[in-house]
Formats: sequence, structure tokens, C-alpha cells
Amino acid sequence: MREQGTNSERDVLVTCGLPYANGKAHIGHLRTYIPADIYVRVLRKQGRNPLFVCGSDTHGTPIVINAEKEGLTPKELVEIYHSHFQEIFRKLNISFDYYGSTDSPTNHARTHDIVMRNMNAGYIYPKKVELAYCPVCDRFLPDRYVEGICPHCGAVARGDECDQGCGAHLEPGEIKEPKCKICGNSAEYREQEHFFFRLSAFRDFLLDYLDGVDGTPHAINYAKEWVRRELKDWCITRNLEWGVRFPGRDDLVVYVWVDAPIGYISFTEEWCEGHGEDWKGFWMNGKPIVHFIGLDIVYHHCIFWPSLLKGAGYGLPSAIVASGMVKIEDKTFSKSRGYVVWVEDDYLKNEFDPDVLRYYIASYTSHTKDLNFSWKMFAEKNNQELVASLGNFIHRTLTFAYRNFGAVPNGNIDDEIMEKISKTIDEVIKANERYEFKQYCDLVMALADFGNSYFQKGEPWKKVKEDEARCREIIKGCLQLCKALCILFEPVIPSAMERAFSMMGFDGSDVHRMRFDDALVELESGTKILKPTPLFRRIEDADVKRMENILNERIGKKETKIEITYEDFKKLDIRVGVVKDVERIKGANRLLKLNVDMGDEVRTIVAGIGECYRPDDLIGREVIVVANMRPTKFFGVVSEGMLLAVDDNGTPIIISPERRAGAGKRVK
Ligand code: MSP
Ligand code: ZN
Repeated sequence: MREQGTNSERDVLVTCGLPYANGKAHIGHLRTYIPADIYVRVLRKQGRNPLFVCGSDTHGTPIVINAEKEGLTPKELVEIYHSHFQEIFRKLNISFDYYGSTDSPTNHARTHDIVMRNMNAGYIYPKKVELAYCPVCDRFLPDRYVEGICPHCGAVARGDECDQGCGAHLEPGEIKEPKCKICGNSAEYREQEHFFFRLSAFRDFLLDYLDGVDGTPHAINYAKEWVRRELKDWCITRNLEWGVRFPGRDDLVVYVWVDAPIGYISFTEEWCEGHGEDWKGFWMNGKPIVHFIGLDIVYHHCIFWPSLLKGAGYGLPSAIVASGMVKIEDKTFSKSRGYVVWVEDDYLKNEFDPDVLRYYIASYTSHTKDLNFSWKMFAEKNNQELVASLGNFIHRTLTFAYRNFGAVPNGNIDDEIMEKISKTIDEVIKANERYEFKQYCDLVMALADFGNSYFQKGEPWKKVKEDEARCREIIKGCLQLCKALCILFEPVIPSAMERAFSMMGFDGSDVHRMRFDDALVELESGTKILKPTPLFRRIEDADVKRMENILNERIGKKETKIEITYEDFKKLDIRVGVVKDVERIKGANRLLKLNVDMGDEVRTIVAGIGECYRPDDLIGREVIVVANMRPTKFFGVVSEGMLLAVDDNGTPIIISPERRAGAGKRVK
């Protein structure tokens, strides 16, 4: 793991929104993790000593439902994705000091403590509520186990959210015409005792807190607006087996949004346990805490979470940094509609450089704005900025130095260069403090551009013959700029800068430990330069096309794929038929006219199998027929049903029962 440049105590806690261990990492997730990782690396370069923690969010109804679908226990499912996320973070150089799980014993215990303290203070109270209950499955139906009608807009919605209509958050008991997602039957409302968090009691506290808290202004302004409008108490218990037990109730667990943020505390505890530090420094005694999240979970972090902490007498987060959302080709991110880019399957497996994605996410736009991902823009930014600007400057400088001197030449560096570096350092620190990672990248890229024009104007390729002393000065200045670029860009593109640093004759991994101040330490003349290799590769049009095709195919497929319920399926009357006789249809080689015994009647069916089956071979065979299709005319013949066949790339293969079933038998 990371070695620290200092042994002093951690002075700021940085956390990231915990990924649900319920699916694979996509680039939307990275908008939280990459900027946070940059932020932490920059703090280290300033000589600060942050503690950077995260972990898997392992509870909640969707995880239980998915596990059921996959035939796994929730624990097994969660372990798969927990490892997946750790692997992705490792490959992308997102380097948490600690990555935990909300199912750890520490988190169960910490959740109990915070719930009990809130109970004792009167902020958690029991209340009887009407909840969806399925009489067939004999169980209460939490959150996504119910489907019904949104009480606000009338759209079809799931139990916890109007996901296809107005987007409203739905509290248990609110959804109309509830149906059980497991068996499809109508659910009824039954009374049961649940527990509520008295959010409404925190109005004044929140208005005050939100006035003082640091972070991205848009998040805090949204939160203030919500507080001013109305705060509703939250039902914080669910009828589930999987989760953190509600103290004293064997049939209830706490709502996932209770134990998930408490994970931030537990992970701090778990890390401190092994490092001789006190977690209370952060969570009770006011050391700063910075939460990185996406705009979609601002409500939970700016309203619910501080109130829960306040109610329990804990310390409060000092900053909430919320990113804008990621879009794909200008469309709202949507896994179900195919607008998604998977980190592993799309990006890494196609051999793209993790650093380029880090750069794209950090530099595309201001942290608070929506970020559009398009493969075209991705290639452009790579080619124009990383290849043509940064990569080009480092490569031409190192190549020139390697060929002409083999080492860092001696000579004085122009003051202009040291001043530029020093000014850039001051400015990037300010950008980082304001959570402006695009600005950070632009400032460092401007230093590379400065380097390119300094090199161009200096014409070292002429001076090497005419004025070697000046040539040495220019190249030494350019090398100093390369060193500074490595240190300044390390937080954004750590692997590439490690490679560049080692070409300059340093131990490459030192670049991770270097401070900004080291960028101003003059290079030692005589240090050997290694034969440079290009830092970034161009992304060609063909690469873009290939990736766009993958995306488009996924979107196309998803658009035609709709989900049906068992009720829908039951509408199909599918039965076994026995073929009585068969004729070809004149003028249509592809079509055969079949008379099929359906048990109680003989139907005429037109089937597109004429090119693959001879009429005589079909007589007497059992086939599968959709018997309630609306009759349709083909070449003057009315077809009264549809024959089922496998589509083997355009060639039909007729389906028959595995053994003789008899005409008229139903297929279910
Ligand atoms: N488990 C919750 C967070 C609990 S924090 C106590 C969650 N998980 S998530 O897997 O859906 O998201 C993880 C992080 O990625 C969150 O910070 C979330 O805001 C961010 N993003 C997930 N999809 C995103 C986009 N499409 N765009 C930008 N960020 C998004 O939320
Ligand atoms: Zn049911």
C-alpha cells in the first residue's frame, strides 16, 4: 500500500459515497472516486496528511432482490461486487487508505450506538403504519418488492421511488394499487409498527449548519431549499432479514441509508484500530471531514446524515463536495436503456489507459456541472491534450537531452521558468481547495504549453551547433519543467507521471511522495536520462467507431427489450398442434400453408418455413402454436395462429415437445 512521507497524525478525513455492492463499476461511479483521489493526492503534495476511506454499501432491498434472482445469498452477492470494486479501484489507482464493508461487526455496533442514542434523545419513535403485504407470499413487501401507481403523478412506480414518472421518493405505504413483485398478485395494506426518525425536529439546526458547512455551493443551496420547504420524518426500519437489526426487534432491520453513512465512521474506526490513532478525533472532536458524493445523494448527505449525527451527539462533516452527474453521449445515464460505459468490460478490456479516463473525468468540465462522456470527445482530449501537448513536450525534451547529452546538462535555468512553476503551484492549490479539478488540469496543461513554446522559441536544435552553452540552459530549463509537470500532474495521471519520472533518471515511484516544493528544487546536472518512450498513444477514428458500435448496439438492444409480467404472459394461448396436411403458397417460396389439429378444431396456419422444410416431412409432427393471434392474411390465405420456431440466424428450426404430448395440450 501507499507509503506515507510523514508519520504525523492524519489531519483530515476524506470519504467517498459508498458503491452499492450490487453491480459492476461504471464511469458514473468514477465521478465521485477520481476527483476525491486527486484531492487527496494534492493535499499530500502540500504536506497535509489526509486519511482516505471508503467501502462497499452492502445492505438494502435491491441487493436482496438481486441475490434472489441470481440464486445467491445476499452475502455471496455482496462479496462478488466488493472484490470487483476493489479491483477496479486498484487498476485506476484510486488509492484508499482503507476500504471496508458496511456489513462489518464494527458497523453493526456503531449503527446500534447511533440508533440507541437517537432513540434515547426522542429522535426515533415507533408508529403504526399501513404497509404493503402479499397474502400469497405471506410477507410484508419493503421498497422494491412492491410495484404500483405513484400517488403524485399516476405513473407506474416501484415501492420506494417513482422511477419512470415524476422521480419522487416514496415512503413505505404511499404507493397506490400495490402489487407483489415476487408473485405478481395484488398486495393489501396491513398495519405494522415501524420506527421513524424525527427529521422535522432538525429544521433550525440544519439551516444553521448549512450556512457554515463548506463544499460545493450548488449542493448546499439545494439542501437549504429543501429544508425551507418541508422536512418529513423518515421511516427507518424495513421488514428484511439482511441488514443491521433494529435494536430490540428481530423482524426489522434499519433502512440502508442509516447504516451506510455510518460506514464512514466504522471505516475510520477500523483503520485507526490498526494504526494507533483515535477515530474520535474526527467524529467527536472536530477534525475536518470531507465527503465526496454525486448530486443524486445530496439529500442524504446534507440533510439526513448531519441530523442523524447531531441527534446522537456526534461531530459533523465539515464539507460536502457533490459532483454533477455523468451523461453518456448527451443522454441521461441509464443502465436499463443501455446508456452506460462499464469500467471493466468497455474501458479496461479494450486496453484503454486508466490515466486517460482519470484525466477526462477530472478535466472535462467543472466539478459541479454534468459531465458528458462521448468516445469522440474522449479521443479528442487524449490526442490534443495528453498526446500533442503534455506528451509531446516531455517526449521532445527527453529525446533531445538523451541524444545530445545523455544526462541533465549543466547551466543556469532561466528565472522565468522557476517563476512559472512557482505560480502554477500556488494556483493549483487554490483550485483544489475550491474543488475545481478542471481548473487544476488546465493550469498544469498551460505549463506544458508554455514548455512547448519555450522549446520552440529557444530552437535548441540550432543552438546545439551555434551556441552550446545556451542550448544546455534551455534544455535544463525544459527538463526542470518536465520534473514540475510530473509532480503537478501526478495526482491526476499517476502512472504516466511515474513512467516519465523514471525516464528522467529518478526512481519513478518517488513521484507519488514528492511535494510541490520539490518541483522547485533544481535538477542535478549529470543525472542520467534514459531513452524515452512515448507516454500516451493516439486514439484513432477506428477505435472511436469500434467503441461507439458497442454502445449503440447495447442501446438498440435495450430499446426493443421490454419486461412483461406473468399476467402478460398468461394472455398467450400457446398449445400443441399436430400437422394434418401442408401445401406451398403460390408466389411465396418462403411460406407454407399448414392445417393443424389443435385438439378441438383444425386451424389454418401460414408459416415462413418453406425454404427449409418440405411439406411431406411435416405431416404428423407435433408443433407449438400461439393460438390466439389475431388472424392475418398472407398472399390471400388467412393464418389463424403462429408456429413457434427458433431463429438460427435467419434459418427457422421448428420447436416440438420433447415427447408426444397430444393435440391441444397447453404450453405454460
Ligand atoms: N450506496 C449509495 C451511497 C451511500 S453513501 C453512504 C450509492 N451508491 S452508488 O453505487 O449508486 O453510487 C456510488 C457513488 O457514485 C455515489 O457518490 C453516486 O453519487 C455516484 N454516482 C453513481 N452514478 C452516477 C452518475 N451517473 N453520475 C455521477 N455520479 C454518480 O449511491
Ligand atoms: Zn407475492
